[in-house]
Amino acid sequence: MKFALIIPAAGSGTRSGQHIPKQYVELLGVPVLAHTLRAFATMKECEEIVIAIDRTWRATAEQCAEGIAHVRFVPGGEERQYSIANALRDLGGSPELVLVHDAARPCVPRAMVERVLRAANEYGAAIPAMAITETVKRVNDDGRVTETIERGNLRAVQTPQGFRRELLASAYKHAALRGIVGTDDASLVEAYGARVQVVDGSLDNIKITVPEDFRRAEAILTSWAAREKPVRVM
Ligand code: CTP
Ligand code: MG
Repeated sequence: MKFALIIPAAGSGTRSGQHIPKQYVELLGVPVLAHTLRAFATMKECEEIVIAIDRTWRATAEQCAEGIAHVRFVPGGEERQYSIANALRDLGGSPELVLVHDAARPCVPRAMVERVLRAANEYGAAIPAMAITETVKRVNDDGRVTETIERGNLRAVQTPQGFRRELLASAYKHAALRGIVGTDDASLVEAYGARVQVVDGSLDNIKITVPEDFRRAEAILTSWAAREKPVRVM
């Protein structure tokens, strides 16, 4: 299934505690963004990649994309949503499916990307998600618990999120007109009134957020590399 890919990579990574934005920090000697790009660039169905970046980091971002075809850069915005809106405006008319994937998620399994693509093609919008294993509570600003929330129907949502291009573009226009700002792309499609389908996410698909996450991501990538090595017959 052919698709275009949008990568928001214009954040500053304040929670990650590094001197440079987290997408340019190296994991096993390669920047996070380069890992993320490789995961998709090796899929032959990936026809076009638009990356939203902070212009100051242009040279580094270009190095991350070296050797990968059909990559373009657009300037990021103040919020993730505005970065993606810039990328959406830059997208060509084809292919019909668009994936949006955080630069900060370098451990994205191919099987999961394929689940998202299949469901996006079928339903118009699809997101990978995980059941929540911990008990969830609502608390006051002073730390007092006000409610324990039934978690059976709650999901923690990841990227890539997949959409029919027309639907995503309409949802973004609708959100811009009404001043709706969401923390993910699907929420804008929901606000537009269209159906969003959930598929299984992956425990490996962490979003690098806090300092400890760099180690976790390296461990995941190392375990993948070990799995891929051919078994040597003595
Ligand atoms: N992002 C973006 N433009 C923004 C903000 C975020 O393109 N204005 C991107 C980030 O680069 C990241 C993804 O959106 O790949 C998810 O955002 P998040 O994890 O919140 O990253 P940051 O905003 O960079 O980190 P923080 O919130 O800790 O500052
Ligand atoms: Mg952020």
